[in-house]
Amino acid sequence: MIARADTALKKPITVALTGASGAQYGLRLIDVLVAAGHEVWVMISKAAHMVIATETDIELPAQPQRLVEALSKRSGARPGQIRCFGREDWMAPVASGSGAPSAMVVCPCSTGTLSAVATGASNNLIERAADVAIKERRTLVLVPRESPFSPIHLEHMLALSRLGVVILPAAPGFYHRPQSIDDLIDFIVARVLNQLGIEHSLVPRWGEVVNKDD
Ligand SMILES: Cc1cc2nc3c(=O)[nH]c(=O)nc-3n(C[C@H](O)[C@H](O)[C@H](O)COP(=O)(O)O)c2cc1C
Repeated sequence: MIARADTALKKPITVALTGASGAQYGLRLIDVLVAAGHEVWVMISKAAHMVIATETDIELPAQPQRLVEALSKRSGARPGQIRCFGREDWMAPVASGSGAPSAMVVCPCSTGTLSAVATGASNNLIERAADVAIKERRTLVLVPRESPFSPIHLEHMLALSRLGVVILPAAPGFYHRPQSIDDLIDFIVARVLNQLGIEHSLVPRWGEVVNKDD
């Protein structure tokens, strides 16, 4: 696990949850980044709120300040550690290259948001923040979940990958012998942390897997 840091907050990371299945990946990512001492800037799409209500027992308000309070309570964040921005909060720092953090993760990433990011639509703050990350050559990790993928999805993913965007599908491996859904969630969250260069011990790294027959 990651030890809770008591020192100054570490660099902010933007985490956006969109309306693909797998809201737990994004919520766990927020918790882990908070525990690691990072500032976390959060955006949750309207569809993501529906998915959260469908897939979990977690109740999250849509209004940004109330969302800050709810997420902070959940994760034990310090005051100011979590900031939330609304769908059309164009004055938010993530909307500009001069204010956006060095890394953004869309987790989970719907095929709708994937399409918008691939085409530079920027019709809401999540899409705009991803567009900013691409234009500023910053780290952008997308965690799409759909099955099967259509040629449209695949073409968007290829185009984005060629731009340097990390396409990290929500497809957990089983070689670490997961015992629970939490283990499967942590598999994906660990992969995201690897991309962000954040140390963790959520799951054993390859070569550290313990064979139960040993
Ligand atoms: C319960 C639920 C599950 C969904 N699962 C997926 C999914 O796995 N992948 C996906 O791309 N869209 C999924 N959708 C559809 C998206 O939420 C929908 O396309 C939405 O417009 C995406 O908007 P957003 O990208 O602004 O969040 C799901 C919707 C709901 C309500």
